[in-house]
Amino acid sequence: MKTYRVGIIGATGMVGQRFATLLEDHPWFHVTALAASERSAGKTYAEAAGSRWLMKTPMPESMKDLVLLDASKDIDRMKELVDFVFCAVNMKKDEIKALEEAYAKAEIPVVSNNSANRGVPDVPMVVPEINADHIEVIEAQRKRLGTKRGFIAVKSNCSLQSYVPPLSPLKDIYGLKKVLACTYQAISGAGKTFETFPDIVDNVIPFIGGEEEKSEQEPLKLWGKVENGKIVNATEPSITTQCLRVPVSDGHTAAVFASFEKKPEIEDIKKIWAEFEGEAQKLNLPSAPKQFIHYFEEENRPQAKLDRDLEGGMAVSVGRLRSDSQYDIKFVCLSHNTLRGAAGGAVLMAELLAAKGYMD
Ligand SMILES: NC(=O)c1ccc[n+]([C@@H]2O[C@H](COP(=O)([O-])OP(=O)(O)OC[C@H]3O[C@@H](n4cnc5c(N)ncnc54)[C@H](OP(=O)(O)O)[C@@H]3O)[C@@H](O)[C@H]2O)c1
Repeated sequence: MKTYRVGIIGATGMVGQRFATLLEDHPWFHVTALAASERSAGKTYAEAAGSRWLMKTPMPESMKDLVLLDASKDIDRMKELVDFVFCAVNMKKDEIKALEEAYAKAEIPVVSNNSANRGVPDVPMVVPEINADHIEVIEAQRKRLGTKRGFIAVKSNCSLQSYVPPLSPLKDIYGLKKVLACTYQAISGAGKTFETFPDIVDNVIPFIGGEEEKSEQEPLKLWGKVENGKIVNATEPSITTQCLRVPVSDGHTAAVFASFEKKPEIEDIKKIWAEFEGEAQKLNLPSAPKQFIHYFEEENRPQAKLDRDLEGGMAVSVGRLRSDSQYDIKFVCLSHNTLRGAAGGAVLMAELLAAKGYMD
């Protein structure tokens, strides 16, 4: 497989640091440029992020001396250094939209963890196991942007990464009608640790700004269809959610209830999950988990602390599947929010795009 030179925009942040650690030994992608705000520009990565390094593994040696670029002002320089970029920045939505479009128009493909472009119909939002075919809208997007190779592809929100995968294969077989999901979300999803977020200790916070809207709307794009160069969102199921912040470092858990056109048998569901694989497994992408959905028979699993790192944090753990008195079924599921839910999911998407020739 060909190798690619890669930039990280927002390299100093929580998600950016996760990209740096995931890409350190990546077989296809080599980090050749880092960028952040003008506050960090001109400093080495070690100077800009060394004192706020949040990962459990140390800052990659190969990146310590890279001098950070200014994400907005140094696009021309970035173009000389990279084949594509990952982007995870904390800026206003309209500024992020403009920044990502500027990179795409400079012929630098952007794989983004930001939400700014998720609602755009010709911007694919892809979980490679679920809707890999959506990347074909890139051709239409390139036409709109007037580019030859530049485009934007986005990662969905981390909150839904636990419950959309187990529901996806059931939806295709049994016709998913109604979903209720309550999420219990880790503090790293807010870019925090217990040191920087002491108020969360011994506490639950019942509101995460914008999260319920994303949790209810984004699955419909993932389950949508490509028509005439656009993704047309699915109209079903109806989804309602409540998203809570809980005192967990990493790993978003969800308690899920679902109803179908045709009620599935519990043992059939377990078999479907055990056999479920998508394009990521078929193409044997480097970051793909071997078994995407792991079902636990133990009634006290999945647990964030025990199960979030399964298959490098790229698998989804499910347990407590049973019939429900008001919905057809209920279960509990878990996914690592900064791995599968953020940087890892974006790296997997970039692997899919590279394998399909979109990064050439
Ligand atoms: N599922 C997901 O995909 C997922 C999960 C978590 C987060 N996110 C998204 O990822 C993004 C980053 O989250 P985070 O938790 O990593 O945030 P963070 O820790 O606050 O980091 C923010 C990053 O943005 C950079 N930045 C801020 N203002 C900038 C500017 N004007 N120009 C260029 N860079 C600028 C910062 O650089 P300086 O250090 O120079 O200030 C830093 O590198 C957010 O949009 C968040 O919503 C997505």
